[in-house]
Amino acid sequence: MIFQFRSIRFKFSVVILILLAVTTLSFSVFTLKTVENYFTGQAVSKAEAISRSAAASAAYSVLSGDMLGMDSVVSRVKASHLDVDYIAILNNSMKALAHSDLNKRGKILLPGPGRLLSLDRYCSVIEQSNGMLQALAPVSFFGKQMGYVLLEANRSLLKRAQDSAKASVLKGLAVAIMLGIAGVFLLTTTITRPIKELSAGVQELKAGRKRPLKVYSKDELGELTRNFNEMSALIVEQKDRLARYAGELEDAYVSTLRVLAAAIDARDPYTLGHSARVAQLSVRLGEAIGLPKKELEDLEIACLFHDVGKIKTPDYILLKAGPLSAQEFKEMASHTEDGTNILSKAPSLAKYIPAVRHHHEWYNGKGYPDGLSGDRIPLHAAIITIADSFDAMTSTRPYRSPRSEAVALEELVRCSGTQFNPRLVEVFVKVFRNEHEGFMLSELI
Ligand SMILES: [Fe+2]
Repeated sequence: MIFQFRSIRFKFSVVILILLAVTTLSFSVFTLKTVENYFTGQAVSKAEAISRSAAASAAYSVLSGDMLGMDSVVSRVKASHLDVDYIAILNNSMKALAHSDLNKRGKILLPGPGRLLSLDRYCSVIEQSNGMLQALAPVSFFGKQMGYVLLEANRSLLKRAQDSAKASVLKGLAVAIMLGIAGVFLLTTTITRPIKELSAGVQELKAGRKRPLKVYSKDELGELTRNFNEMSALIVEQKDRLARYAGELEDAYVSTLRVLAAAIDARDPYTLGHSARVAQLSVRLGEAIGLPKKELEDLEIACLFHDVGKIKTPDYILLKAGPLSAQEFKEMASHTEDGTNILSKAPSLAKYIPAVRHHHEWYNGKGYPDGLSGDRIPLHAAIITIADSFDAMTSTRPYRSPRSEAVALEELVRCSGTQFNPRLVEVFVKVFRNEHEGFMLSELI
């Protein structure tokens, strides 16, 4: 909901609707005021015309004191004009000589207070606080003023026409507002639809998906969408190309490592292919304990590297047929730290250091180089230890014949919990039992 309030469409709609409301209301107020002024003008003109006509008609009767004539004038005016409330003929002392209401004859009548709407020497009109118009026209005969005609008119007839005109204006206003709202909806839809499409396109591009965005118009937004489609196609193409290059680079990198590992193994004819076999065994064990694909790839490469430090081990020690002296063993054992130093030269290889450095640690802490024990030994190193030992036992050595897989497994089980992680040995043995049909695990345990 908050997002909706913050959307461009919402803001755009609010601004346009406010402008629309201010414009239509201003126009309506102006129109209604104009209509009111027009009808007021009409009413004033009518009151002036009636009072002046009555004054002209009554002049001779006033001069001659003809009461019947004056009564005739007021009764004709009252009968002819339904919106005239009363009409009176006054003498110069404002005394009613004739009145449409007979009860008021002989009384002094003074024009009431009000807003002056019209004034000239023939007539004046005021608007009283109750909205009635009061007209006062002098009665003259050859330039001599003899009295006045005073009349009061309501606006009942004109009011109906005025109300009808106001209703028409309000209807027009309502139609204008509805059309305006519909217009705002269409306008905001037209403008925000391409923006929404662009926003969705950016999100999809970020997520790695790409589809051509729909172009809704031929204006600037349409041009922007077309440019976005071209740009995203270029980005996706470059991304695919980079991924292809990265894949090729990784393949080349792994191939180089295999060659390097093979070269190290080849120094000793008895260990030819050792690193590749350790990698194969380790990956099978890693798969059995459920390591994810990426970790299995790292484990395989760590295996290829695990004895890279032996590149510094002299041939007379590496190739020695008999048992090593204490000094020779120390020098041979340093291949784990030498391997660490070699890998630390390249930041991208640093992640393999734990496996390479600790693949000769013992589960009981009596291994080297750091005497780590139990679960403090990195998992990859603990896996490589088992695979390394298994391959060493089943390979030919200058000083002994290869042992059978059954015997090697038996040795792993015997050293489980001392040299090797017992949980990993258990899985390793099960993997062999499953993969080598007929093999009797009971022989081992
Ligand atoms: Fe080693």
